[in-house]
Amino acid sequence: MTILVTGGAGFIGANYVLSRLAKGSESIVVVDSLTYAGNLESLAPVENNDSFHFVKADITDADAMQQIFETHKPQAVVHFAAESHVDRSISGPRVFTETNVLGTQVLLDASRTQGVERFVMVSTDEVYGSLGKEGLFTESSPLKPSSPYSASKAAADLLALAYSHTYGLDVMVTRCSNNYGPLQFPEKLIPLMVINALHDEPLPVYGDGMQVRDWIHVLDHNAAVDAVLEKGKSGEVYNIGAENERANVDIVRHILKHLDKPETLIRNVADRPGHDRRYAIDPTKIERELGWKPAKDPKVALDETIDWYVNNREWWERVRSGDYQTYYAKQYANRLEG
Ligand code: NAD
Ligand code: DAU
Repeated sequence: MTILVTGGAGFIGANYVLSRLAKGSESIVVVDSLTYAGNLESLAPVENNDSFHFVKADITDADAMQQIFETHKPQAVVHFAAESHVDRSISGPRVFTETNVLGTQVLLDASRTQGVERFVMVSTDEVYGSLGKEGLFTESSPLKPSSPYSASKAAADLLALAYSHTYGLDVMVTRCSNNYGPLQFPEKLIPLMVINALHDEPLPVYGDGMQVRDWIHVLDHNAAVDAVLEKGKSGEVYNIGAENERANVDIVRHILKHLDKPETLIRNVADRPGHDRRYAIDPTKIERELGWKPAKDPKVALDETIDWYVNNREWWERVRSGDYQTYYAKQYANRLEG
């Protein structure tokens, strides 16, 4: 089988490609335009693997996508490529609509016209908006996205379902909670806080830090994506989560303790506009219907993740040398002023 993986040079996609190729038996074609978040170094362990092919291309380019599908004739598409960072969507929403909405539609068209058998649309729990203190997101929770990022993902997610309904394309949608693990771009909470702590720099906690996220290890997310690819029913949505809710400030304190750094590094800064208060996933459907369960112990896996960043300084130092310094300086200055 040939699987076309979009966004395979990003955090979740790269982890997916490395695990799938370690299992052998199939050909993987990665399509990625290498934005600031895409990093070919993450795929270095498989660059000489005969089953691995990389194509640098933008998913919004319909001609390029038709050409790639004609050349590689994938049976399945796993669609990770996206603009993924909420804060960036607030300061510059346009590219989120272009990549996440238009890019998804281009891929769905290429898949439909070129006989792709399975299409997994990797969506997010953020399409459901925010929860109060109680309750969980189920697959039938209403879609109430709050940010330009989550609105663009909701549009893409619904487009994918429309292609199943209208054209009979075999599409499944996954909605996962917050991922952590190796190879995550250091603008996201966990790698950012680890790296700042290692530099004895302030750790910017938005607002009161009591917002809750439901954390899952990236390898557990990817195992769930595989379960959906292999056994999911066309036109169905599958929530993915590991029942691991934590307040942001607890995660930050845990990181500081693990690194033996003082809590005085915590800096409460201006809140994210429209900040969702709480996410929590009910994973009953995927567990019951597809037999998936998370394998990682969250207590061990978070510490392993912190240690990965401690031990892979070269990876994130190079990643941070791009547009990151300017972006981060601006974000942080704005928040302090706000
Ligand atoms: P990421 O930002 O680390 O990686 C995104 C990848 O997509 C990068 O390699 C980038 O170069 C590529 N890309 C962006 N625009 C492109 C374009 N126009 N054409 C081709 N490639 C392009 O993101 P991630 O955290 O790995 O997220 C992957 C997917 O999973 C996204 O769809 C995201 O919405 C979803 N998701 C993420 C999380 C999370 O916690 N990170 C949770 C649930 C769902
Ligand atoms: O829930 C799934 C989503 O999780 C994915 O769809 C997104 O692609 C992914 O980026 C992530 O979104 P979040 O906005 O939840 O992730 P982020 O790491 O940006 O922030 C996590 C929480 O930490 C959030 O409540 C904001 C807060 N935060 C974040 C940063 C970067 C801070 O308090 N300080 C920070 O500096």
